[in-house]
Amino acid sequence: MNQAEWLRAAHIDDLMDGEGFESDVEIDGETVALFRMDGAVFALGLCTHEQGPLGQGNVDDGQVTCPWHSARFDIRTGTCLGSPTACRVDGSIQIGDADAGESIPACRTFAVKVVDGEVLVSRAAATPRARDGELAAE
Ligand code: FES
Repeated sequence: MNQAEWLRAAHIDDLMDGEGFESDVEIDGETVALFRMDGAVFALGLCTHEQGPLGQGNVDDGQVTCPWHSARFDIRTGTCLGSPTACRVDGSIQIGDADAGESIPACRTFAVKVVDGEVLVSRAAATPRARDGELAAE
């Protein structure tokens, strides 16, 4: 996949405001998670802690919480806003994981555009325009 190639990741109607969506698209081995927020769509890669699926995380106030150990990321920029704080033990959540407080890098962001209702993503990093919450259109 070259930088300019666009891949269909979802239909806009698949995305609910305030919820994540785990697409079938992988870029460089990272499953692309989609988020619809305030009329715009954003795409993130995997959690940078242990590759948790951010598309399955809870969304609140422009942030997604990783379902594995609760690191939080800004949906618009990928910036990590909260370090891992919990770990799964036999299906339960245990606060106080050894990684708690660990500083982790931002997750990847991907460029998104919506064309005729189809949500397309590319390997290119999200542009400042997309980060400002505007839908790119052709
Ligand atoms: S894998 Fe996401 S916080 Fe651990």
